[in-house]
Amino acid sequence: MAVASAPGKLILFGEHFVVYGLPALATAIEARTVAEVQRADKYSLIDNRPETVGYKKEKYSQQVDSIQRIFKAIELKGDDVKIVLRGDLVATSGVGASGASCSAIVAALSDEFELGLSKEEINNIAYEGEKGYHGTPSGIDNTCSTFGGFILYRKDITSGGSNMKHLDLSTSFSVIMGNTGITSNTTEVVKDVESQKEREPDRFSRLFKEYQKIIDEAIVSLQKEDLENIGRLMNKNHSLLREINVSSTELERLVELALKNGAMGAKLTGTGRGGLMIALVDDDNKKDVADAIKNAGFKAEITRIGAEGVRLGR
Ligand code: PMV
Repeated sequence: MAVASAPGKLILFGEHFVVYGLPALATAIEARTVAEVQRADKYSLIDNRPETVGYKKEKYSQQVDSIQRIFKAIELKGDDVKIVLRGDLVATSGVGASGASCSAIVAALSDEFELGLSKEEINNIAYEGEKGYHGTPSGIDNTCSTFGGFILYRKDITSGGSNMKHLDLSTSFSVIMGNTGITSNTTEVVKDVESQKEREPDRFSRLFKEYQKIIDEAIVSLQKEDLENIGRLMNKNHSLLREINVSSTELERLVELALKNGAMGAKLTGTGRGGLMIALVDDDNKKDVADAIKNAGFKAEITRIGAEGVRLGR
């Protein structure tokens, strides 16, 4: 039997914009998905991951498609494999649960079948698996889950390739994840943004320019450890996400609660229209922000960011 694990991720800047070749910044979080792979008489999948209610049912057919894509890309029939998924990453929209499970499954398969895949190869195959969930994934989720840390990621939309750069940040800050409790369908939301862009190319090119300024300034602010400004830029990024219609009543409520209770910045993260809101907090106000979110009936968690990527074992 082989065991591998990979972390979830949060997109600090650039979800959706990253699909169109703009740079985005993501970070791996502490919670991980563990994949166990063992030989068996027939194929089976046991999904014991904790979840936001309804997530696994909603994503089941996408998960079947994703695992078939992984077997194809890895050139395994997969009819004699039992896969068990577990770990402390709560399967939720926005946390990169699909990317983490793809990366962990590929690493465990590589170990069990002695394929000796490098991290780059694991990432490329995990990207094939992500197509089952995202339709046209940018690749940021699997890349972040595979390599860990803080990743500045850019998809080259002409060649289909990608660029990634690790940012070595000494900054340590806490992020609160507020959960709307709603599972979003990434394929559908990404398609909807694409049709808006086709209908209104001028508006989108203005939004892309505005976003580019935000990410350029965010990188400088992160390196200068200017958390106040990072928070301000998160708010600006959220406004753009609202403009492309991927926010929701629940996400707006979570952003409002976070800012009202002292967060330096707040935005939706990942697909949107459900899933997670992230808020940048410091030690003095993190409890107030988390409590306010919980008192309003949502789940809130504080996470450490910049965690390690895929690895064998837990
Ligand atoms: O909801 P998540 O965590 O799977 O993130 C999706 C991010 C998008 O930019 C909307 C899509 C993508 O493939 O980058």
